Amino acid sequence: MKALITAGGHGTRLRPITHTKNKHLIPIANKPMLAYALEYAHQAGIEEVGIVVNEGDKEISGTFGDGNNLNVNITYIEQRAPLGLAHVVTIAESFIDGEEFIFYLGDNILVGGIKKFIDEFHENRSNCHLVLSKVPDPERFGVPEIKSNKIMAVEEKPESPKSNYAVTGIYLYDHSIFEAVNSIKPSARGELEISHAHQYLLDKGLSVTYSEITGWWKDTGKSADLLEANRLVLDNLDGLREAEVDKNSSITGRVVSGKGTRIMGSTIRGPVILGEGVIVEDAYIGPYTSIGDRCRIIGSEVEYSIFMSDSKIENVGTRIEASLVGHEVMITNSSAKPKTHKLMIGDQGKIELA
Ligand code: DAU
Repeated sequence: MKALITAGGHGTRLRPITHTKNKHLIPIANKPMLAYALEYAHQAGIEEVGIVVNEGDKEISGTFGDGNNLNVNITYIEQRAPLGLAHVVTIAESFIDGEEFIFYLGDNILVGGIKKFIDEFHENRSNCHLVLSKVPDPERFGVPEIKSNKIMAVEEKPESPKSNYAVTGIYLYDHSIFEAVNSIKPSARGELEISHAHQYLLDKGLSVTYSEITGWWKDTGKSADLLEANRLVLDNLDGLREAEVDKNSSITGRVVSGKGTRIMGSTIRGPVILGEGVIVEDAYIGPYTSIGDRCRIIGSEVEYSIFMSDSKIENVGTRIEASLVGHEVMITNSSAKPKTHKLMIGDQGKIELA
């Protein structure tokens, strides 16, 4: 069994963050999103992992290398353009080399890993096994039609969904998927849709089975999804508290922190993760916040947010909440008169002022 993991595409819904960073490297609890997919693969006993990246991409391979640190062997497969998820499968045919495989969308995060889905695929001896999750907004996803516990059809982002299930980004296949992805035609939006490949298998009478995720699963397309994923991972967080904490600070709940981090005159209510070399002074950090390495949180309040590394927030009067903040960002108070907001924001930045 091999794993094929996606890390391409443009991440347009996460701009401006994705102007300078591949979406799959956005940190969730201070760890790149894609690291979770690689850990799930290793936990499931998979050794060979193919990661599909955009043509010329060096950011993903620069981060994970040959996979040695995560106990997997990584092969990078370049996709010339984001031509659809079924296209991703076509270009991985020689890497898969006739084996069964799990196709995992690298922007999906779930609790409990993927081993049980692999086991269910083997128990069912099916050609294709889909993992479903009940969602309030199925029209955003691939949606199955189910009758008597059987998948009858799969539609991609239908206007009138035939069930309240999403087909999640976790798919198990045998070799028959290659005939499907090589036979279908691009959709109206110009992509080779993975849902059309699933429909092809159904039309050919091949067996398409499913499992349901009853726990937590998220497709991290938007910033609200990333904050939710961060909340989930922090809820299950384990780790050391290596920060120096002075006697004027109060820390409650689960707070994990790295080397060289200092907390002075501050209140921190976990679950919170602070990276290495972080300074927190005269500040409040509330639940479900991840602060990257070398950030400085001074005289300010932050909650339910992700701060990437080397950012600074100083003497800001209003609590910062539900925010996704990139690397080397500065948010400071302006004491000069007249009292105004002074902004320097990159293309497609988003700011909500209270
Ligand atoms: O997350 C589950 C959903 O994922 C399924 O319900 C849908 O049926 C499936 O089409 C897919 O929908 P999305 O609109 O969420 O797919 P997205 O374009 O966001 O791409 C998902 C992942 O694949 C992400 O890691 C980017 C990567 N990708 C995407 C395309 C289209 C590539 O690497 N290459 C591509 O050509």
